[in-house]
Amino acid sequence: MKIGIIGSGYVGLVTGACFAHLGNQVICVDNNLEKITLLKKGKPPIYEPGLEEMLQENIKRKRLFFASRIEQAVKNAEVLFICVNTPPKENGEADLSYVENVSREIARNLKEYRLIVEKSTVPVQTGEWIHKTIKLIQPRESLFDVASNPEFLREGSAIHDFLNPDRIILGVSSARAGKLLRQLYASFSAPLVVTDIKSAEIIKHASNSFLATKIAFINVVSRICDATGADIENVAYGMGLDPRIGPGFLKAGIGFGGFCFPKDLAAFERMAEKAGVPFGILREVLNSNEEQKKYFIQKVSNALWNLRNKTIGVLGLSFKPNTDDMRFAPSIDIIQGLQREEALIQAYDPQAMPKCKTIFKKVKYAKDAYQAAEHTDALAVLTEWDEFKKLDLKRIKKLMRNPILFDGRNIFDPAEARKLGFHYYAMGRKLRRTR
Ligand code: NAD
Ligand code: UGA
Repeated sequence: MKIGIIGSGYVGLVTGACFAHLGNQVICVDNNLEKITLLKKGKPPIYEPGLEEMLQENIKRKRLFFASRIEQAVKNAEVLFICVNTPPKENGEADLSYVENVSREIARNLKEYRLIVEKSTVPVQTGEWIHKTIKLIQPRESLFDVASNPEFLREGSAIHDFLNPDRIILGVSSARAGKLLRQLYASFSAPLVVTDIKSAEIIKHASNSFLATKIAFINVVSRICDATGADIENVAYGMGLDPRIGPGFLKAGIGFGGFCFPKDLAAFERMAEKAGVPFGILREVLNSNEEQKKYFIQKVSNALWNLRNKTIGVLGLSFKPNTDDMRFAPSIDIIQGLQREEALIQAYDPQAMPKCKTIFKKVKYAKDAYQAAEHTDALAVLTEWDEFKKLDLKRIKKLMRNPILFDGRNIFDPAEARKLGFHYYAMGRKLRRTR
């Protein structure tokens, strides 16, 4: 099929590359000319494992094209995916002005039937607004349908997630739209949920909100473990064996971040409030996530006494491993908190340092994890990159001024770290592994 992707960021690029990989003709549009120039050369402007190879392969096979004007996608593709950003406004609501601008631009260029699909995460009723917006400019309703096809990929494993989804949600309002989308996803074996547009929109917001609630819940339980001497790893394992709970998203840490959970929870809560259904649970989840970051900072200052002029090595800056994405990364609040206490930060991340450099000028950036540990008063793991799990802790200890280790992601064996002579602090864990 001929597909147009509007907005070539983390979601748009992966969606475009994967549809091309499956044999479709895809044109990816972005109004950021720098991105398009890079993409035409087969270079992704973001780090996502496997993406560069997939882009280059499909450009070579003439299945994947890039353009800076929406008009080019509307002219050439029958199905248009809106993948632009939906950032949070000051009050938490989703800023839908990017979606509106794209809808207008599509409408101005509509000459024959096009299916316009929301893939950006949007509040319920956005589909109606897109329909109204297009109709204002292009009153011939037979020329277009609007549909919703929310995306559930995770950064860092985006290609795998896109190609192997747990479910495919199709929110449609006409048989023609349903038929086109079923055709597009015909080669996937995941369960297909065909529903109305509003339900599809809510499925996405409710899913992210539910997952984030699970994380916030286990994080509070980890604080209880810290306070009482229990072990969160065993607690989460024991809970997760109940299939009604499940083991996923029960990893305690320094709090969730990223471009999705924080903003989607806030947007869902705002939307619920507008609909007259206050959703206090979500407010509490967001507050508790802020508390978790503060709790980590407190752990550091409780152990180091004064932070002033003490050097803290930070391992990991991105909001999760295998991505360079710094949006709403917990590392930002944690570094800011430590700097407020006048600690000196030297940090290393395998991919996120270029983006982090635009956020923090007063951080010393190291060339690797060992350099980040040199002459430090303490070392803090903020992102669980695989390469940190394999570090030579003996060497790390020798490099540090004081062997104090804060394992914000519970990646090291507590008993081993302590045997090596570290003062080891984790999130809700006991000294000894009991499993
Ligand atoms: P992003 O910022 O990486 O990408 C959005 C892109 O849209 C940018 O490159 C921007 O330049 C472009 N854009 C904005 N206005 C445009 C216009 N008028 N014309 C052409 N291009 C335009 O954002 P993202 O992370 O890809 O997220 C996009 C949407 O997908 C959001 O709603 C997000 O919640 C949702 N989502 C994201 C993920 C994820 O893992 N990042 C997963 C599922 C859903
Ligand atoms: C999340 C969802 O998992 C995707 O299904 C969804 O498509 C996406 O948001 C979106 O809508 O954009 P993503 O944000 O890429 O994906 O990454 P996750 O793996 O969900 O992690 C989010 C945050 O939660 C990270 O900061 C991570 O460290 C944290 N987390 C995750 C935990 O602290 N504990 C866990 O057990 C799991």
